[in-house]
Amino acid sequence: MLGPMLTATSLLGMAHIASAAAVSSTTGGTIFVSSYNSKVTTLNIGGSSSKSGVPKLSTVAESTGCGESPSWLTLDKPKGLLYCVDENIVTGGGNLASLRTKADGSLEALNLVKCAVGPVSIALYGKDNHGLAVAHYGGSAFSTWDATDPAHLVNIQTETFKMTKPPADPPRQPAPRPHETYLDPTNKFIVVPDLGTDELRLYAIGGDGASLTTTKLDSVAAPAGSGPRHVAFVKRAGRTFMYLVTELSSQIVGYEVTYPAAGKIAFKQLWVMGAHGWDKPTPKQAYASEIVISPDSRFAIVSSRNENSFKIPNFDPTNSTQLQSDPLINFRIDDGGGLTAIQEVAAGGSYPRQFSINKAGTLLGVGLQLDNRVALVKRDPASGKLGGFAGYAQLGGQITSVIFNE
Ligand SMILES: *[C@@H]1O[C@H](CO)[C@@H](O)[C@H](O)[C@H]1NC(C)=O
Repeated sequence: MLGPMLTATSLLGMAHIASAAAVSSTTGGTIFVSSYNSKVTTLNIGGSSSKSGVPKLSTVAESTGCGESPSWLTLDKPKGLLYCVDENIVTGGGNLASLRTKADGSLEALNLVKCAVGPVSIALYGKDNHGLAVAHYGGSAFSTWDATDPAHLVNIQTETFKMTKPPADPPRQPAPRPHETYLDPTNKFIVVPDLGTDELRLYAIGGDGASLTTTKLDSVAAPAGSGPRHVAFVKRAGRTFMYLVTELSSQIVGYEVTYPAAGKIAFKQLWVMGAHGWDKPTPKQAYASEIVISPDSRFAIVSSRNENSFKIPNFDPTNSTQLQSDPLINFRIDDGGGLTAIQEVAAGGSYPRQFSINKAGTLLGVGLQLDNRVALVKRDPASGKLGGFAGYAQLGGQITSVIFNE
């Protein structure tokens, strides 16, 4: 059995008594959740009066403004706008949607436009964040949008990619599979990890980051057959690093990022390690998924799927059947960009496809895709240690993303 059972044992001791009725006020904050059951759900994360057991998060509002299969959410908090992509997994296709966030937690659908097939990620970019960069996994494409008028999204460009060499993993890499759009810390470049071609596609944002035009740069090769999925950046002691999480090889690739000239970004690969760190083997069937950096830039947290390495008490206090959980792996970051695994904890269920951290660094919002569950994992911002649950919700479809409304 793997090491994380230790933490699982400590969770087993937790008492479970039915929690008090959910509180409807949203003063403790809200999260937005996308799921494949055609809904974007607002959940109340504060104000629970339960004294024991894991509080059940109450639903504040539900929106059907993001089509059939909402797969990703990106919030523009200052403008009160939520962007969402519809992966259209049943009927095929893709949509990009904009919604207005209301003070009461509800969402007003503003616009839904057709886009390239299979969108899975959105990044805000350009002056005043009026640009949207979208990765299309199913459609092998990258697209950009002008959201200056959020009720009238305008396509700027859509670029469709072709395979240029035989894939290392033909069943999983039949075509280019852009998995994410992510801005570097200067907000001048967009990184697009491509699971199908083992590369990091790169774009420079025009006007030194201020315009909505993008220029394609040379890609950076990632390890063959690794399946690049998601990235995160961190600045430490004056240096910039990027971590790439790969889905097919379940690894983390560390890069140092430099800016050799105006309009240029360079990546130097530093190391490749398993998603569980240097000292622990990665289970063969694992699919690493998300990576998030703590707000204080001291920790990186990675999720992995299909491991079932933990057993945790059922969130339903009347149900004595334990639940299986995949792990979150917690790493300390050093000034050289190195990662040291310090802890593994239960993510709260099966397939933590995506998760996010709140600004205070006290909570992770985890989307447990195959359990239709959202879990709030507790975090101590001083020590960086994770563990235990501050809340959960059971929704009606596979969870694809969870973001804090802040
Ligand atoms: C108890 O939990 C297990 C595991 O999630 C589930 O399969 C079962 O249906 C639950 N039983 C009841 C009565 O809800």
